[in-house]
Amino acid sequence: MLTISYVVPQIAILSSLLCTVTVWAQTRPIMFQDCGSEGSRVSQVRITPCSSDPCVFVRGTKLHAEVDFLTTRASPTADINATITIFYPMAVPILPANACVGGGGLSCPLAANTLYTFTGHAQVLRSPPPLYLPVPMIARMYGDNNSTVIFCIKFNLETR
Ligand SMILES: *[C@@H]1O[C@H](CO)[C@@H](O)[C@H](O)[C@H]1NC(C)=O
Ligand SMILES: *[C@@H]1O[C@H](CO)[C@@H](O)[C@H](O)[C@H]1NC(C)=O
Ligand SMILES: *[C@@H]1O[C@H](CO)[C@@H](O)[C@H](O)[C@H]1NC(C)=O
Repeated sequence: MLTISYVVPQIAILSSLLCTVTVWAQTRPIMFQDCGSEGSRVSQVRITPCSSDPCVFVRGTKLHAEVDFLTTRASPTADINATITIFYPMAVPILPANACVGGGGLSCPLAANTLYTFTGHAQVLRSPPPLYLPVPMIARMYGDNNSTVIFCIKFNLETR
């Protein structure tokens, strides 16, 4: 009797720890709004680690994002530009900034009517205070030497 009542809480604690670890590494297709895609249709955006809507990121960690988009026209270039807005828009460096080099997963020129997956990552800065309320992030991919918007997606995030 004693042994069982002692062991069960330990198992419970262990499994809740394991759950936390599993949830942490989760990849989640996130809810997003289109904010003016001109050269493609975005079908899915996945973020790792993310286990809630909106995603809650831990400051000082790295996040990984994948964007599936179907081009409606060709583009010689593909450059990423992202901002979060807390009172005013601030640049968020998503790498690679040139989606066609350094692991971005694309090769330029982009062809029309083609399904692409952009893969990028960003560092969640440790120094700013945590964002306990949803904050909007806008991520754009510029095409044609930064003169057109291949895609524009908007979604919320929080940090701890
Ligand atoms: C994104 O665009 C804004 C406004 O055009 C600009 O101020 C910012 O430097 C750009 N950021 C990147 C990473 O290109
Ligand atoms: C884009 O810029 C490159 C170099 O700056 C230039 O060679 C090319 O002609 C430009 N293309 C367009 C479509 O403007
Ligand atoms: C687009 O703008 C970004 C940020 O200003 C710059 O780093 C990049 O070289 C530009 N791309 C082209 C093709 O001109």
